[in-house]
Amino acid sequence: MCGIIAHAGADDAVGTLIDGLERLEYRGYDSAGIAVQNGSGIAVHKRAGDVSEVREEIQTAASSGDVGIGHTRWSTHGPPTDENAHPHTSDTDNVAVVHNGIIENHAELREFLADEGYEFTSDTDTEVIPHLVEHFRKEESETIVAFRRAVEELEGSYAIAALVRDEGRVYAARAGSPLVLGLDDDQYYLASDIPAFIEHTRDVVYLEDGDVVVLEPNEAQIFDENGLSVERSGECVDWNPEDVGKGAFDHYMLKEIHNQSSSLSKTIRGRVDPDNGRVALEELDAEILDGVENVHLVACGTSYHAALFGARMLTDAGVRARVFRASEYAKMAGPTTEGTLVIPVTQSGETADTLSALRTATERGATTVTVTNVVGSTAAREADESVFIRAGPEIGVAATKTFTSQVVTLILLSQKIAAELPDATPREDLPELLAALEQVPTHIDQVVETSRAEDLASRLLEYDAYFFIGRGMSRPVALEGALKFKEITYEHAEGFASGQLKHGPLALVTSQTPVFGLFTGDEAEKTITNAKEAQTRGAEIIGIGPENGPGAAESDAYLRVPDTHPVCQNLLANVQLQLVSYHTAKQLDRSIDKPRNLAKSVTVQ
Ligand code: AGP
Repeated sequence: MCGIIAHAGADDAVGTLIDGLERLEYRGYDSAGIAVQNGSGIAVHKRAGDVSEVREEIQTAASSGDVGIGHTRWSTHGPPTDENAHPHTSDTDNVAVVHNGIIENHAELREFLADEGYEFTSDTDTEVIPHLVEHFRKEESETIVAFRRAVEELEGSYAIAALVRDEGRVYAARAGSPLVLGLDDDQYYLASDIPAFIEHTRDVVYLEDGDVVVLEPNEAQIFDENGLSVERSGECVDWNPEDVGKGAFDHYMLKEIHNQSSSLSKTIRGRVDPDNGRVALEELDAEILDGVENVHLVACGTSYHAALFGARMLTDAGVRARVFRASEYAKMAGPTTEGTLVIPVTQSGETADTLSALRTATERGATTVTVTNVVGSTAAREADESVFIRAGPEIGVAATKTFTSQVVTLILLSQKIAAELPDATPREDLPELLAALEQVPTHIDQVVETSRAEDLASRLLEYDAYFFIGRGMSRPVALEGALKFKEITYEHAEGFASGQLKHGPLALVTSQTPVFGLFTGDEAEKTITNAKEAQTRGAEIIGIGPENGPGAAESDAYLRVPDTHPVCQNLLANVQLQLVSYHTAKQLDRSIDKPRNLAKSVTVQ
């Protein structure tokens, strides 16, 4: 979590840093700060609260400088206070540091530094870093050597950027946390993620673990883990500045819900061969599937729900597939062998739990193919192969368009795997499914344009709890609907397999607990029966199903989706639920794009 940014160039760094931090707030937003070289030392502005509060403070102080660093925080060590906000400085104020990640040996380092006479003013693990740099500067004539020695003392994961008084450069290092270099003509940027500087440049270099970077207004030098100067190849990303703005929408989440038709079109483009009724996922070399006997999908949160969907598609095609919460994988996976294909599903490609599962799989000799949105992410670089979901940047903390693109990517991948494995067979109705998938973007637009979710939301504000039920392929949608609802409304919501309701959760059902029934897919009839069991106990039933589906007559309220292939109905029902969550949260005046306590990219275990 946390977002860091650094800038060196001819332009004033302050505006660039603050604008960049606002673009990184999805990574954390409980405090923020910047530090700039301003000719008479390092000026630090930081405080609890969001980036706009730091912006106000800076405008008052009229700070400026051509080299600087910035940070937006998601607290791990110490509460969100002014003292714990980054940048952290050394005793002398000669060194200022921002950090994303966790310094696991911070307690020992703190003890050592305290014995050496350094005074600490925060609860953070980060504060050891400026003191360490300061400490080694007393022993080394060159700051780069002192910085490197400080970095070598750190255990854990980090992306760090540092300023040193009277030096017009930024020192940075990466180990286990993302850090991307942005290159413009006479401007250089470093950030946790590309949206921070996309309005300035699309030319990027993804740094490697162990890299140390020195950024100056006219130069960026990269040194590898042995201290040798290296060239890293760059690439031009196909994201646009508009992709990371809100446009005419009130919230990123609403923009991203609306944009699903275009993002999904990109996901599908070139990957379906409708003439032959087959999947054409050519970027995945079929050879990688040689010898695969079973499949493990590992993921967290929304990505876990997409993985459930993918696993169901695989098992229906005769592939032995299991899904694991990534955080449980190391202990739970049982036999992972060279015959196991492990698929980490992760929007960001940086989720620590998912990366840990990926590394466990690699250690055990499995083949790994990640399904991710971010080219250059750690998951993409560490997995044997990657299949990109091509959803474009997603800024709202609550995942929406990326879930849709993940599910469709997994549908395609499942059928490619089934076509390659000797004991598996793609679905008999694959041509019909692929034809229906190509219609989903149009159907999403129809749902978004005609949804009655906003009206419904206004009636939903006074209840005690909200339940979501589904069966088979609609179960992941029920779980995802409940996750989305709780994330942004802060109301109690739970998703269940509909058949599970009567085995316990039914005890919670009252007239104050509406039940959302996913009446989509092949198993809708049974879910309708389960929903009626709740209805007879007083619950209001909100059905989501096809235009003329049988659930409409049984529901107290009904949200319609176009009558399409049963698999695709689930994707469209999910869009209705996204809108229900959005409008309910809006009417409750919640912080929709930045829900309390959450961050988009969870880079701690
Ligand atoms: C989704 O709305 C959440 N923000 C969260 O559950 C997220 O899906 C999870 O942290 C996994 O993230 P990833 O896809 O980037 O790995």
